[in-house]
Amino acid sequence: MKQIRTLCLAAGLLLAVSCRGPKTDSTIGASSDTERRVESLLSRMTLAEKIGQMNQVSAGGDVSNYADALRKGQIGSILNEVDPAKINEYQRICLEESRLGIPLLVARDVIHGFHTVFPIPLGLAATFDPDLVEEGARTAALEATAQGVRWTFSPMLDIARDPRWGRIAEGSGEDTYLDARMAEAMVYGYQGRQADSTSMAACIKHFVGYGAAEGGRDYNSTFLTERQLRNVYLPPFEAAVKAGALTLMTSFNDNDGVPSTGNTFVVKDVLRGEWGFDGLVVTDWNSMGEMIAHGFGTDRKDVARKALEAGVDMDMMTYGFLSHLEELVKTGAVKESAIDDAVRNILRVKVLLGLFEHPYVDVEKGVAVQYAPEHLAAAQRSAEESVILLKNDGVLPLKAATVRSILVTGPMADAPHDQLGTWAFDGDKGHTVTPLKALRERFPGKVTFVPGLRYSREKRNAFQDVVAAARRADVVLVFLGEEAILSGEAHSLADLNLKGSQSELLAALKATGKPVVATVMAGRPLTVERDLPNCNALLYAFHPGTMGGPALANLLFGDVNPSGKTPVTFLRTVGQAPLYYSHNMTGRPYNGETLIDDIGMEAGQTSLGNTSYYLDYGAYPLFPFGYGLSYTQFAYSGIVLDKAVYGKDDEIKVSLTLSNTGNCDGTEVVQVYVRDLVGSVTRPVKELKSFERVSLKAGESRDLEIRIPVSELAFYGLDGVKKVEPGDFQLWVAGDSASGDPVPFTVQ
Ligand code: NOJ
Repeated sequence: MKQIRTLCLAAGLLLAVSCRGPKTDSTIGASSDTERRVESLLSRMTLAEKIGQMNQVSAGGDVSNYADALRKGQIGSILNEVDPAKINEYQRICLEESRLGIPLLVARDVIHGFHTVFPIPLGLAATFDPDLVEEGARTAALEATAQGVRWTFSPMLDIARDPRWGRIAEGSGEDTYLDARMAEAMVYGYQGRQADSTSMAACIKHFVGYGAAEGGRDYNSTFLTERQLRNVYLPPFEAAVKAGALTLMTSFNDNDGVPSTGNTFVVKDVLRGEWGFDGLVVTDWNSMGEMIAHGFGTDRKDVARKALEAGVDMDMMTYGFLSHLEELVKTGAVKESAIDDAVRNILRVKVLLGLFEHPYVDVEKGVAVQYAPEHLAAAQRSAEESVILLKNDGVLPLKAATVRSILVTGPMADAPHDQLGTWAFDGDKGHTVTPLKALRERFPGKVTFVPGLRYSREKRNAFQDVVAAARRADVVLVFLGEEAILSGEAHSLADLNLKGSQSELLAALKATGKPVVATVMAGRPLTVERDLPNCNALLYAFHPGTMGGPALANLLFGDVNPSGKTPVTFLRTVGQAPLYYSHNMTGRPYNGETLIDDIGMEAGQTSLGNTSYYLDYGAYPLFPFGYGLSYTQFAYSGIVLDKAVYGKDDEIKVSLTLSNTGNCDGTEVVQVYVRDLVGSVTRPVKELKSFERVSLKAGESRDLEIRIPVSELAFYGLDGVKKVEPGDFQLWVAGDSASGDPVPFTVQ
């Protein structure tokens, strides 16, 4: 992909879509040699050994706990072991003491970095920078594989349109196209473009629809139609499969009554049948067993059969396969050929990763790789690009030369564990550089720290100490938000305002009249509308990881110009959820009608508007998808298409001039949206179809050409067949999803 992009640039063009990394870029894929090795092993395995490969267990304590099971070939994979010496010993037992010497696949949730922690995936998505995200995933793979971890349960590709859902932190947000590009980047990064001993198998999850949990309550039911699945939720998975993802995890939720781990339609028909996926399908943690709680099976034997029939290969922590498959085969309830297929998929991954050739790691070398300077630098760049400037009345960037005293305050100013975010099991908070630490290093003797609140949920009635310190300072830098524990798995929230007395702290600071710059660090888009008037500027940092502090210092003082864009709609109030840019059009679109304050106390029912909106909050979000300010300004001009009418096999060439009209260098994320005006089914009001980061010097203008194949406009319509429907379209090129003027075109 890098090479293709270089060529594009050399031609003087930025070809966003055609620069995407095609499958052929990755050399990880089954060959006839792989298949021969898999078949040869399979032919020598007993039924019990085959079933053993299908069993995944969580490491706990001493290696000896599992030694006997490993010798008997009863375990195919272990998760949650990161001690390289123990991993080597596990592998030794498998290779030297089990009958067939099949190595173990060691798995871990390496979600946004291993030791060096990158921003949470939602923050990575805010970079709109697939190359950087790939570099981050590669870094994670280098560190994790050096310790013997060869399989990560990432990337999470769940589209999330409800910020109450705590796991919104772990994905790329609300948009299908952005999610798909991030999916490819992470797969390439984890697995590497070439298979070698640093390749870590990616696991795309959670298949499928998990992010659409009712009410944003984790693990809850979803009711997605097949059309929604195919048009919105499945494409990122398909993109990741095309990029060569080696494994996939089924999700906890039931969709329209069918739990994913027993869903033959999505796993067997779509994933295997339509997409030709020949990788490994693993359940989520006990999601096989949970089908009993769902009421989808009577007992473990029943759900084990249902999972196998649906196309699941490996059971994470239910022991359903291990305990019951042998009996199910013997009674004829399941065919041994189904087990053979599952084992082929598992062995194929082990062969492709080179585990048979390189099962061990060098313990000392592995330690040396962790927190390497280039890893920290990549984490810092990722954090810098992930931060979104949401408000700036001109106070930012701060001028380092003239600042004499800085007050640093707020619960996230010095929270080394919490700035790492959810799923940072292996990140050592001792390595975290917090904003306080970074600012103290940069401005010795000029920084005063008064926490104000030690935790986001702490309540205080008065802030005399902070207010007094603010009065003595030139500028107040307040770091607010939520701790890592408030987002992530099983951590949904019903109230998304800043917790505790954080809003009161901010208001007290503002009342001093000093310039107040707020930074919010959180795992989700919180509802910050009430806080906006109380700060002169607001930076939004989804938990930014190990190097969040220096990244924020660089942004605050203008060494780096903010370029992050919202990967998810920011709500005014939680009651608007779900609210996302790519919604369908109602028959009565909002037309700026009366809001509650303008309705007379005794007004009759008929005096209200007749469109789709909330009387108290209208129809719009606080910040739309794709939004983010810069210290400079960008102007879009001369947006033209090369034709008015396109054929289905054509490419749309969009030309435009992007100008940096401000006083400093900056980077804009140029976004292209399309609307299909009339379809056999109603279509979203806008869909992102391309984006590209463009860096321009102050005052510089550049002509851009963006190409979008007409085939990208295909969707599943009334007949359930994916195709481009002829008709009229509109296209926007802009810096966010709510700006720009539509350019019409037709497809015939
Ligand atoms: C449950 C989570 O849903 C999943 O994402 C994770 O990978 C597994 N646990 C393993 O830790």
